Amino acid sequence: MEKKTYYITTPIYYPSAKLHIGNTYTTIAADALARFKRLTGYDVMFLTGTDEHGQKIQRLAEAKGITPKAYVDEIVAGIKDLWKLMNVSYDKFIRTTDDYHVDSVQKIFKQLYDQGDIYKSEYEGKYCTPCESFWTDTQLIGGKCPDCGREVEKAKEEAYFFKMSKYADKLIQHIEEHPNFIQPESRKNEMINNFLKPGLQDLCISRTSFNWGIPVTFDENHVIYVWIDALANYITALGYNSDNDDLLKRYWPADVHLVGKDILRFHTIYWPIMLMALGIPLPKQVFGHGWLLVDGGKMSKSKGNVVDPVVLVNHFGTDAVRYYLLREIPFGADGIFNNEIFIKKINSDLANDLGNLLSRTTAMIEKYFDKTMPSPVEKEEIDNDLINMAINSHKRVESHINNLKIPEALDEIWTLIGRANKYIDETTPWILAKDESKKHRLGTVLYNLAETLRIVSVLISSFLPETSKKINIQINADITTWDSIASFDGTKAGTKISKGEAIFPRIDIDKKIQELNELREQQMKANRKEQEMEPLKEEITIDEFEKLDLRVAKVLECEAVKGAKKLLKLKVNLGGEIRQVVSGISKFYKPEELIGKNIILVANLKPVKLRGEVSQGMILAGATNDDSKLFVIDVPEELPTGSIVR
Ligand code: MSP
Repeated sequence: MEKKTYYITTPIYYPSAKLHIGNTYTTIAADALARFKRLTGYDVMFLTGTDEHGQKIQRLAEAKGITPKAYVDEIVAGIKDLWKLMNVSYDKFIRTTDDYHVDSVQKIFKQLYDQGDIYKSEYEGKYCTPCESFWTDTQLIGGKCPDCGREVEKAKEEAYFFKMSKYADKLIQHIEEHPNFIQPESRKNEMINNFLKPGLQDLCISRTSFNWGIPVTFDENHVIYVWIDALANYITALGYNSDNDDLLKRYWPADVHLVGKDILRFHTIYWPIMLMALGIPLPKQVFGHGWLLVDGGKMSKSKGNVVDPVVLVNHFGTDAVRYYLLREIPFGADGIFNNEIFIKKINSDLANDLGNLLSRTTAMIEKYFDKTMPSPVEKEEIDNDLINMAINSHKRVESHINNLKIPEALDEIWTLIGRANKYIDETTPWILAKDESKKHRLGTVLYNLAETLRIVSVLISSFLPETSKKINIQINADITTWDSIASFDGTKAGTKISKGEAIFPRIDIDKKIQELNELREQQMKANRKEQEMEPLKEEITIDEFEKLDLRVAKVLECEAVKGAKKLLKLKVNLGGEIRQVVSGISKFYKPEELIGKNIILVANLKPVKLRGEVSQGMILAGATNDDSKLFVIDVPEELPTGSIVR
């Protein structure tokens, strides 16, 4: 009989920065699902990759003085290393710079153009460079990018557009007829009510202002703007538009696209519409998981709270990290990463519950049966509860996973582990061991524990693959199929066991947290040093510099400019002359905070009028990398008002 197929994808990652624990989360969850499906008999295609085009990459590469391709090659190698470290068992890794992808995307674009779904026009809007997104004024929040909160730039240029609205009704109908298409439920309502019902705007799908992208074949000034390029990966990876589309026939439509909630809109609106236009069936499900937050907020380099998965793995091992992410973060909602909770979970669930069950069982088999697995020859009523739970767990675990309830699946497994530990307390094998006539009973108890461990090992193998292998080695289990855990006889009596080291040694929380804090400090220092430097401006001569007249000036008065949100109007004294200066710093300073301050003024700047107010000069200030803070340059008290700065 032909195997059922299962096609699961992660988003393709931007190779613009090192991946953090939040990015890692999507892929580890996908890996657990892919492994589980393989284990339960599916023919699985698990796709991941990298999304390598766009202005941001081009700028980063330019700043480093290398080509964009050389830049991404290096980062992609690091991403692949990370997936290896996290034990991610992807079947295919696609790069949007791969020739077959480029070729297929060009054909897609041409087809959509030829059939009238794409047209050329002019784009006017606000562009957020880090997010590579155009926004309309109504979408901006407080004038800033609604996704990342950063400043946006005005942009107007010739561009191709996709007629999204043409397919909106068909998409709404599809979503309504397929209740599982967008999951979780709450996110489905958000997509329908916030985006689809208010009416879809046509999507800008090409750019002319940079060239690091897939060229539009019939209009060389344009590169294909990133979302069409990125989303198409899910089909180009399977050979769409190539000579060989066997994989496409075998795996499409995808069973699930796993994505973070921030990109759900692209996957549940633009992507299905693209597919409809191409006449390709829609994926069965798009699942939007939540955010992994630290200290109650988003991770960001400037806050210094980015959690590096490599550091965690070095300290705690891959499976501890996988366990925390999969068990502790409600799949679909936001969750928190916190070192203390993480270490406590390792100690309680992994070291105590699972680790002790294994070490107690193997230690007793070693001690009482000379390392040889005993036979279950003397059964008692009390065994049945454990045995029944053990042979039925797989059904519940499978049903949870089929509903993408990953933490619930792990809860189920840990209930079984807890039951086995309780069984040790109920049967008190160390007391049985004192009485030679109870030897058979003792052997049965230990067999039951070992067999439960074998079942646990199979159950956890998709989530904690390394741990599962370690358990199998210690109890010498060689039957590890999914089918084998529906009955309680897979452990072979008479085999030699080999008690090994503790699979999860207990961790001293305070000591470890201190160690991690110190490391974080060091990393922050290093980050500050390696902050990507803006390219330097063109060289000037000393004579050119001398043309600047910089003066220390004292702020005498300061007030907001009426009708202008960003502007402050200051009266400053530059040692004999009083001037009015208008400065766009009201977001960062209240007027009273500036009065009395000595600042540096560019005093010979040609006066301009801002919102009807004359500004005679400019105040020197510097902003943090993420522009969240700005500081007017402080002048030491000793420097008198009016001093020349050079
Ligand atoms: N390149 C796009 C995806 C294109 S898919 C056709 C992209 N890349 S990304 O590198 O920015 O993000 C990759 C994944 O990481 C996304 O699913 C995103 O939601 C996820 N996460 C990024 N930060 C996250 C957290 N803090 N927590 C959980 N997931 C987060 O978007």
